[in-house]
Amino acid sequence: MEFQIVGGDLAKTKTPCLIVGVFDKRKLSGPAEALDKATDGAIAALLRKGELDGGKGWLLAYDLPGIAAERVLLVGLGKRKECDRDKLTKALSTALGRLSEGGLRKALLALPTGLDDYATVRATALQAAHLAYRYDQTKAPKKDAPEPLQTLAIWVEKAKRRDAERAIAHGSAIADGVQLARELGNLPGNICTPTYLAARALDLAKDEKALKTEVLEESDMQSLGMGALLSVSRGSREPAKLIVMRYDGGEDKAKPVVLVGKGLTFDAGGISIKPAADMDEMKYDMAGGASVFGAVLAAVRMQLPINLIGVVPASENLPDGAANKPGDVVTSLSGQTIEILNTDAEGRLILCDALTYVERFEPAVVLDMATLTGACIVALGRHPSGLFTGDGKLARELSEAGDAADDRVWRLPVWDDYQKQLDSNFADIANIGGRDGGAITAACFLARFTKAYRWAHLDIAGTAWVTGKDKGSTGRPVPLLAEFLIRQGSADSGR
Ligand code: BES
Ligand code: MN
Ligand code: ZN
Repeated sequence: MEFQIVGGDLAKTKTPCLIVGVFDKRKLSGPAEALDKATDGAIAALLRKGELDGGKGWLLAYDLPGIAAERVLLVGLGKRKECDRDKLTKALSTALGRLSEGGLRKALLALPTGLDDYATVRATALQAAHLAYRYDQTKAPKKDAPEPLQTLAIWVEKAKRRDAERAIAHGSAIADGVQLARELGNLPGNICTPTYLAARALDLAKDEKALKTEVLEESDMQSLGMGALLSVSRGSREPAKLIVMRYDGGEDKAKPVVLVGKGLTFDAGGISIKPAADMDEMKYDMAGGASVFGAVLAAVRMQLPINLIGVVPASENLPDGAANKPGDVVTSLSGQTIEILNTDAEGRLILCDALTYVERFEPAVVLDMATLTGACIVALGRHPSGLFTGDGKLARELSEAGDAADDRVWRLPVWDDYQKQLDSNFADIANIGGRDGGAITAACFLARFTKAYRWAHLDIAGTAWVTGKDKGSTGRPVPLLAEFLIRQGSADSGR
């Protein structure tokens, strides 16, 4: 999707469709008022006659006198005082839904005065791109299906132009990252295998000069001693891959931010096999890895002044004669032995070796993203991602980035009190901690492998995809990660 920032006289600007907001009780937003003047009060007159009172809904007007736009779409924004970024992006969904029904490919949006700041323009661009996304790789589009919008121009006042330009540059880079994550997530497990993910990472490095990709094969992992990761892929015909993407946008000496994402391309549970219902959704078990792809792409396209390393351990988890069995003990790269009491708790097995591996980069901070536990959905539902870290400052930074990016997290504890649930009679640690606090004990497991650096874990089991009729990948937490990385960049360069 394309974005433009435009200024100048709104009434004289040509476009197939001009979108402006109307508040509750038919009060005009700033741009709507300007149009009303240009039309000698035609807009206010129309509102007096029409159904739109400024609450929910829309009203489409053609051939308004004194206006160059072919049509004007008036959209209800609710009460002026209560109208914020969230209400605005919701109203935008209504408007763009209406436009795509009509098959319009281009539109010009005039944001209400006061809601034309960097954050709102960026959120608007991101929302428009989100709505325009269609999955079509393995499915013919429906005949007569409405075409999504192609170009969105956003009108802002002259004083806001610089911020708005930066906002759409960032917004479209983040949208590219979100879209990549959604596409990888939505692809079925028979296409999106570990080998496929590795190939996509190599492609990405071809397209983006600033990016370098390296892929570790099972033989490499064997020589390194990644017994935990390799134990998971042993039950699959698809070889595991450890994907490492590197973007050096910062100073040579600057320590890198490291992102690690669970890339489990299909999770059947292994010998501790899952029930059949909804098992198809376990193709999304690589969503953490997909978010690393997305965040890295967004950082590259924003040309952030940071060094960034994205690491994706990729594997399938299937039952097979060679698969992990409950009671098996494996040795992780860290040297700690692990008793596998449930083969379905495989995410932590592939992550722990990746988390030990990244010590070599001497990271400034490591974030891992994983669809790790059903228990996280039980605890928090599907609105926030679960945030786990012992580092209060990092927790605050991530929470604030999540709020700013409309991609929220909620913190749960990683206290040592829970660690004894992971005691094993036969290994240094067990891979499950019982029914109580399942999302927390999973994080506590990871904590044993992340002592060498600042670390936070995001459990995205409830947020990475939408279940039910609108089943599909959300691209979360790419917006949060992108915001976090932008802030890292500003801190480093002292801006
Ligand atoms: N990928 C799943 C977690 C999951 C389940 C995410 C459902 C989203 C929806 C993970 O590998 C898993 O199976 N976890 C187990 C852990 C348990 C065996 C301790 C779970 O949550 O049931
Ligand atoms: Mn599992
Ligand atoms: Zn899993």
